[in-house]
Amino acid sequence: MRVLLLGSGGREHALARVIAASPFLDQLTIAPGNPGMAGLGTFIHAPTLPDVLAWLTTNPVELVVIGPEAPLAAGWADAIRATGVAVFGPSQQAARLESSKAFAKSVMQHVQVPTARYKVFARADDAIAFVQNSELAWVVKADGLAAGKGVIVAESVAETIAAIASITDIPAGHQILLEERLSGPEVSLIAICDGERYSVLPTARDHKRLYDDDRGPNTGGMGTIAPLHAMNHHTAKQLAELVIKPVLDFMRLHDMPFVGALYAGVMLTEDGPKVIEYNARFGDPETQVILPLVDGDVLKALSDAAHGRLDPDVLGWQQGAAACVVVASHGYPDSPRHGDPIRIDAQLPAGGMVLHAGTVLRDGQLVSNGGRVLNAVGVGATHAEALKVAYAVVDCIALAGMQYRLDIGQSELP
Ligand code: AMP
Ligand code: GLY
Repeated sequence: MRVLLLGSGGREHALARVIAASPFLDQLTIAPGNPGMAGLGTFIHAPTLPDVLAWLTTNPVELVVIGPEAPLAAGWADAIRATGVAVFGPSQQAARLESSKAFAKSVMQHVQVPTARYKVFARADDAIAFVQNSELAWVVKADGLAAGKGVIVAESVAETIAAIASITDIPAGHQILLEERLSGPEVSLIAICDGERYSVLPTARDHKRLYDDDRGPNTGGMGTIAPLHAMNHHTAKQLAELVIKPVLDFMRLHDMPFVGALYAGVMLTEDGPKVIEYNARFGDPETQVILPLVDGDVLKALSDAAHGRLDPDVLGWQQGAAACVVVASHGYPDSPRHGDPIRIDAQLPAGGMVLHAGTVLRDGQLVSNGGRVLNAVGVGATHAEALKVAYAVVDCIALAGMQYRLDIGQSELP
């Protein structure tokens, strides 16, 4: 199979590794990729949709895998599919489960997926008046893609109002969502979907806040651990019956079948699991810990899903655990500094790997080129072992001003 993979983050590096290792692969092309993926495939420069379509006319492939949310929300999957190529990634309509929080909420309400109570406002003034009346703190969300940063969990009425005022500065924030504040441990539940059937991947926990003990601003994700003790394969399948299946059914019945990775961010509250959000793609940095624990051929599953013939039992869960510590640049998430030289020891601990995200080669020197720069991943027999390896990998990385959390995966330690 000839495959084109789109993206350049840690998620795509993790995907490229398993795709490159598949016996079904003949040729992997990556656009644009990152320096860490060198050797896994051939890089091309095709930053726009017309570039990709033009490349495909002279370079036929059997499968296109779209990693990030922005091209999905912009309809790249539709345009590529229209040329007759199978695509792993949802249509623009189906990607609204992520690109419009208001749409996702309405679907959840329709099919009775448990979720936080909410209100949608077109105008900040109305939202502020509502908050003043309610005398409660709310979770404030912008109704659009914001790279995981369009959410403010306010602690007071004053903070809620300040958050509403700030969120209107975000161009994506055409609508404002106020949500009841939930509490409980979070689970990232991701399923590979073919529009009708789905295969549930190992569960993971992300750590969204910048600092230890879940303090500081929300980020795209500072680290992950998998699988979760609270969610084995059996219980994850049960959770998917509740939060994945009804949504897939709804989307299919409304002529927007979801083909791709459907990611439910779930909070395990005292009143049972509740969905915080859907994403229309693999999680980042969840994918970095999920894929090492999958038993089976992921490329075959992606291709079968893209062709609408997924066997839900094609992928199993391996024994063991995986952990990922994100190494972020100085100033992330507000103003990440670029161009800092990176040094990575040649000798990594057994079970350890470095997956690149915001890196670039400048005159032969690897330098930082984004907020989340590298992912230090550890795989081991136990969660403790996986974490030990992941932090040993961090110790192999030198980057001026690097930020990382010291408490990734604590919830899964005995
Ligand atoms: P989202 O981008 O919607 O996943 O939100 C980012 C993070 O904000 C989530 O992972 C939660 O930690 C937190 N969050 C979002 N919605 C709520 C909510 N209704 N109650 C409490 N925390 C929330
Ligand atoms: N790690 C959270 C996300 O991928 O949205």
